[in-house]
Amino acid sequence: MAIRNIVQLGDPILTKASRPVKNFDDRLAQLLDDMRDTLKKADGAGLAAVQVGVLRRVCIVDAGGETLELVNPEILKQEGEQVEEEGCLSLPGKQGKTRRPALVDIRAQDRAGKWHIHRGEGVKARAFCHEIDHLDGILFTQRVIN
Ligand code: NI
Repeated sequence: MAIRNIVQLGDPILTKASRPVKNFDDRLAQLLDDMRDTLKKADGAGLAAVQVGVLRRVCIVDAGGETLELVNPEILKQEGEQVEEEGCLSLPGKQGKTRRPALVDIRAQDRAGKWHIHRGEGVKARAFCHEIDHLDGILFTQRVIN
């Protein structure tokens, strides 16, 4: 078990785009294990690798009692709209309303490289979009509406 430090707002790494994962190796497994431990300790809904200083397209989302590991995630379809309060472990204490799709279908690889399709609605749809944004260097504050 290893807790990694969560990068905070102001660190320029948060604005950088992450690179695709090509090697499904022990290093990736270790990263995912550490991200799980880190997310659990921080009691958050999701965490992207860039938030622990690793510019790879990896994120995890805690939804409905399970933690999904998303490697190279891509949005396949989005429908509808929701406006809800959002926050981020890299911006503690900050919250704001964002507009997100009500439903998203994504595809992502697991730690072994196998592709899966995941459907997210409500909180889970928001978490998918928020975490995938991190992989493109986008923070929720850029999507806050008045
Ligand atoms: Ni975040």
